[in-house]
Amino acid sequence: MRSPLSEVPDALVAPVQAILRSAGQLILAAEEAGFAIEQKSDKNFVTEIDLAVQKQIVDQLARLTPDYAIMAEEEDLDDPVRDRLVWILDPVDGTTNLMRHNQHSAISLALADGAVVLLGFIYNPFLDELFTAIRGQGVMLNGKPVRASTVNHIKDSLISFGTNPYDRQAAHETFARVERVFLQSLEVRRSGSAALDLAYVACGRYDGFFEQRLQPWDFAAGLLMVQEAGGRVCNWQGLSLDIHRPDSLLASNGKIQDTLFELVRDQNKQEDKP
Ligand code: IPD
Ligand code: CA
Ligand code: CA
Repeated sequence: MRSPLSEVPDALVAPVQAILRSAGQLILAAEEAGFAIEQKSDKNFVTEIDLAVQKQIVDQLARLTPDYAIMAEEEDLDDPVRDRLVWILDPVDGTTNLMRHNQHSAISLALADGAVVLLGFIYNPFLDELFTAIRGQGVMLNGKPVRASTVNHIKDSLISFGTNPYDRQAAHETFARVERVFLQSLEVRRSGSAALDLAYVACGRYDGFFEQRLQPWDFAAGLLMVQEAGGRVCNWQGLSLDIHRPDSLLASNGKIQDTLFELVRDQNKQEDKP
């Protein structure tokens, strides 16, 4: 097996940004023109935009980096992916928002080497906001450096949460957590895009975010982004996430992490915090 943590491939940043901006144009044009929607499972939909965006990005990444694997939400493309560099793509994070023209959706793309994320991109074409995280080099929003917030106390914090929409059995637990956080914080939000929730923690618009179950393509880019912005990320047992498996997630600016963790953590599992 190859040794992990290859050099951060900075030279890929500009071409990948161009690929994402061009896919963003596709989203904007198709959203305006109208699009077909298909149901994947209960409460889970895919639009023809998700599929077209995935195809365009996958084709272009395959030309740019022919030796890398690609893991993408709408089709398992490459397996196994732990033995070489892999792109992890969600072509549209926030499909329900897209279906209802809420204009809060993003393309999320990460480059991972084994367990380590090297690059993370989250692009909301509706606001033309491109977040870029480079391992060891911080986070940029449209070319300008951003950091997680400096909010020190949970009482002043704006916290976003995800509803874990595909498992309604867990609703009681989710909303009990939301109630606990709501009562302690400034306010809570439910945006409909986990990738943008993480990008917003990374640039200080939110102070924290949590959701019970997310997929690698939802969180891989955002995980690096929050860490590079000075924040912290763990799962609900207080452990590091494996970017190749679904997991629970809690992210924050770092300063409120311990307090938020106490409100959200999995009470049934007693592992130690990192
Ligand atoms: C979903 C969004 C949503 C989160 C779900 C995700 P999708 O991704 O990130 O905010 O609550 O868990 O599945 O389906 O829009 O790509
Ligand atoms: Ca997603
Ligand atoms: Ca998606």
